[in-house]
Amino acid sequence: MSNRFYITTPIYYVNAEPHLGHAYSTVVADVQNRYHKLQGEETFFLTGTDEHGDKIVQAALAQGLDPKSYADRISGMFRESWPLLEVEPDRFIRTTDPDHIKTVQMVLQKVYEKGDIEFREYEGLYCFGCERFYIERELVDGKCPDHNIEPVRLKEKNYFFLMSRYQDWLIDHIKTHPEFITPERYRNEVLSFLKEPLEDLCISRPTSRLTWGVPLPFDDGFVTYVWFDALVNYLSGLGYPDDDKFRRFWPVAEHVIAKDILKPHGIYWPTILRALDLPPYRRLHVHGYWQMKARKMSKSLGNVIRPGDLVEAFGADATRYCLMREMVFGLDAGFSEDAFVTRINADLANDLGNLFSRTLAMVKKYVNGRVPEPADPGLEEKRLMEGVDSLVPLWEGHMSAFETHRALQEIWKVINIANKMIDTTAPWELAKAGEERAGELNSVLYCLLEAQRIFSILISPVMPDTARRMQEALGLDARYSPGIGDTRWGMLRPGTKTERIASLFPRIDLKRARITGAVAKAEKEGGQRKGDKVEGQQEEGIISFEEFQKVDLRVGQVIAAEPVPRADRLLKLTVACPEERQIVAGIAEYLTPEQVVGKQVVVVVNLKPVKLRGVKSEGMLLAAKDARGLHLITTETAVEPGSKVS
Ligand code: ME8
Repeated sequence: MSNRFYITTPIYYVNAEPHLGHAYSTVVADVQNRYHKLQGEETFFLTGTDEHGDKIVQAALAQGLDPKSYADRISGMFRESWPLLEVEPDRFIRTTDPDHIKTVQMVLQKVYEKGDIEFREYEGLYCFGCERFYIERELVDGKCPDHNIEPVRLKEKNYFFLMSRYQDWLIDHIKTHPEFITPERYRNEVLSFLKEPLEDLCISRPTSRLTWGVPLPFDDGFVTYVWFDALVNYLSGLGYPDDDKFRRFWPVAEHVIAKDILKPHGIYWPTILRALDLPPYRRLHVHGYWQMKARKMSKSLGNVIRPGDLVEAFGADATRYCLMREMVFGLDAGFSEDAFVTRINADLANDLGNLFSRTLAMVKKYVNGRVPEPADPGLEEKRLMEGVDSLVPLWEGHMSAFETHRALQEIWKVINIANKMIDTTAPWELAKAGEERAGELNSVLYCLLEAQRIFSILISPVMPDTARRMQEALGLDARYSPGIGDTRWGMLRPGTKTERIASLFPRIDLKRARITGAVAKAEKEGGQRKGDKVEGQQEEGIISFEEFQKVDLRVGQVIAAEPVPRADRLLKLTVACPEERQIVAGIAEYLTPEQVVGKQVVVVVNLKPVKLRGVKSEGMLLAAKDARGLHLITTETAVEPGSKVS
């Protein structure tokens, strides 16, 4: 295995704020970066933002900003999101960075001089949303598959990259390098696309139509079109061509993307690299979509979840764990807050969290908080030791193949062996037996501690903060910075002082998570388009019993009423529910203060207070309106004020 690793994410368009989909790709890259560091490799991790093109100009206009100020703002939001998720890139690149622009121009000049760029007239079907021409067979019912609108027929002169020259080379490269595009389904997709002759790639836009881009070095009447600018970030991020980083890291480049940009990365990019006489990247890792109620989560559908909201609701490590555990790399996954909460409570709070706190509590109680000297292991301990020993290579295999969900599954199998071992060996019984069984007790406790030290290393790429907290509690120095070699059994030194800590993961109350998170809001608002009916979903206008129960209805007694000055329709009421509250009701057109005082009414008491015509209102009366007027909802007989209405 090479001792270097270079990982990239797509550079995200700044036409909208970061969401869970972007967070996923970026966390995958961060997990891989941490995993390779653990393997002792020298790594470089690049992410950033893609800031040129029509889309950005449109988004900036919509906000009344010039493209650069707009790009600064949204790019800043991406940059600030990543530390919240413990993502630590080595460089955050922007396509507006001067060094990037210089590199793009240098690359264009080089390919132009080589004769691989040509000026031609082109007539084709252009989708403004995608900023690209489509060929007929790519359309679905004559419409752009992404935007569902008919592309416009456009004729103009432009520069073309003669991509077709490299088609045979690319087919051969993919066939002779089975790992070039993974998982395999995407490799097959690219190969099947390459069965048809490739069209050459239009790489420019006339400045009469677009100025927000990198000017072509050989014709200032044109700027380069989005892909030539964007893809080159993977080179400029390393300081191509002169920086030593480029020499060290380009040969080990691996890209993470979702399937939406498979074609640019699987076809355009390797052919551009070939034209530059550079070796292609080493591997392209393609994942599926996070969906919300069976639709891709995307800014255009408005059904997005912000990374910050997830972190606020669950914490960074738990969010990273759920992202990695809930998606099979390569396939689509449905986002549901319930699934995340269930996962956190079961895997993190119960399985791992309880194991850790139970173990440390027993170590404190039975052996003064110090790592005991291990005696001969019994059958149960041997089972755990073997579990851990065979786990490490399995885990490595899955991590190297980007199958993080499987790597985590394997760790949890062994965590559960450890949990079972506590039940079967019953250390509290061993402790009761005193000296006679002290050897057995020491052996059980040592094994539990040592297994968890190793678990802490194996989970560290996904949950770096939890790993550190576990290691600190196990008495390992704050500077402890383990590598893969430290996953060997038996490295925890007897006598080390351990510390009990507050639980690693508090259980999450699903009801509370719903209220605090904007997550539920996005699930509700954006998951469905009007008129859609998804199985298992409620019909529009229908609420669940739980939703109804959120409304706190109480019987109230009106004890005073007076008109609100300069507001013909309003009455200011004092209502005992049983505590007195002031309610402003729009009933003055129908009822006089005298008609209301003394009445029993039904009040919504948990409505957010508002000011009506400057007067505070803390609730709402229920009333029915018909042709004869307005009728307050009241009780059949006198009821104690404050009684709940349900
Ligand atoms: O395409 N599920 O930028 P972009 C999973 N600038 N991943 C998702 C996702 C979802 N629902 N939605 C977005 C661009 N992503 C270009 C890239 S690269 C040289 C230029 C992630 O802002 C995923 O990584 O549209 C996807 O490929 C990327 O965001 C698209 O980001």
